[in-house]
Amino acid sequence: MKNISTVLCEEQGRVLHDIERAIEAPGTVEDAGESSAPATAADWIRKVAVLGAGTMGTQIACVCAVHGLDVTLYDVSTEALGAAAAKIDNAAGRMKLYEPFEDPDAMAHALASIRYTTDPVEAAQDVDLITESVPEDPRLKARVFGQFHAVCPERTLFTTNTSSLLPSQIAEATGRPDRFCCLHFHDVFHTRTVDVMPHPGAARQTVDTVAAFARRIGQSPIVMQKEHGGYVFNSMLIPLLQAALDLAVREVAAVADIDRAFMAVMRTKVGPFGLIDSIGLETAWKVTANLERDQGIPEGSGKAAFLKNYIDRGKLGVKSGEGFYSYPSPLFLAPDFLSRTE
Ligand SMILES: NC(=O)c1ccc[n+]([C@@H]2O[C@H](COP(=O)([O-])OP(=O)(O)OC[C@H]3O[C@@H](n4cnc5c(N)ncnc54)[C@H](O)[C@@H]3O)[C@@H](O)[C@H]2O)c1
Repeated sequence: MKNISTVLCEEQGRVLHDIERAIEAPGTVEDAGESSAPATAADWIRKVAVLGAGTMGTQIACVCAVHGLDVTLYDVSTEALGAAAAKIDNAAGRMKLYEPFEDPDAMAHALASIRYTTDPVEAAQDVDLITESVPEDPRLKARVFGQFHAVCPERTLFTTNTSSLLPSQIAEATGRPDRFCCLHFHDVFHTRTVDVMPHPGAARQTVDTVAAFARRIGQSPIVMQKEHGGYVFNSMLIPLLQAALDLAVREVAAVADIDRAFMAVMRTKVGPFGLIDSIGLETAWKVTANLERDQGIPEGSGKAAFLKNYIDRGKLGVKSGEGFYSYPSPLFLAPDFLSRTE
């Protein structure tokens, strides 16, 4: 029987990727503030190359730049670089979690210092750390790391932002497995928690330095002891959502009551079904259908069928305006939601 990580890896990262994209659930509890731990192990890191100028590369470039690093954003597509530059121009207003400068103009100035290139040699020149955010394809990532290994200095640390791949899948292709590990960001405008995940061949010093680097750019690293598909947060989230669905399918409790129970005890502003609405019911259905197939549960009888019933009625979650709740004012955001009885 395949485990959750295997199932998710088979989805080529799409599922975790979608979850990460959608996880900006209303009222998600804010994480801890900037760590006070010293970041001395990463002080030597001054120049960073961000590979891939899409959703994540653009965000990571912003965070590195406003924390005083010399940043080059690299992409194979000039269009992607142009779009990234436009987003970065307007990013200052979205950087509320990051206020390293007293002078508000300084943040805009730091963002304007980011360089853009389609030339790997230029991006690699004198670079101390690479953070890779190219599409979630192990062969592509392996190729890009191999290309950069050939042109980067010996000291350069390589990190990947993969959502679902295990670093050991691409470690050898980096040419420097001891100086390679995962540095995995969520939406940096929304949360400052990152995962640092080693693989068996990563040097302890690499992991420590990457964690210190994360702190230096205003993140709170969760340093994992070993590699594990789905990192820490998603590994907990998926079983939680499956348990909530199980309660609803077995008609143990109503959807709103399941959310109410969770929200009241955990003091969150959203419950499991509100989260599924945010993630999107199609993504939740894909994950659930894979899990049930592996468990031998007949199609059309379990949690996947429950979700499919909503999907077939056009209830896809927040993106379609309706899922388990109606948007933009879902019931769970009502001030009396926790004390209500339906
Ligand atoms: N989007 C998220 O919420 C999220 C969150 C955490 C991690 N991730 C991971 O980050 C990575 C990137 O995700 P994204 O959402 O930013 O993707 P994206 O599709 O928005 O951006 C990918 C960028 O990579 C560029 N690219 C393609 N081939 C390249 C190459 N050979 N060299 C350099 N650049 C190349 C593309 O032109 C594109 O601009 C994936 O591994 C994903 O799993 C995504």
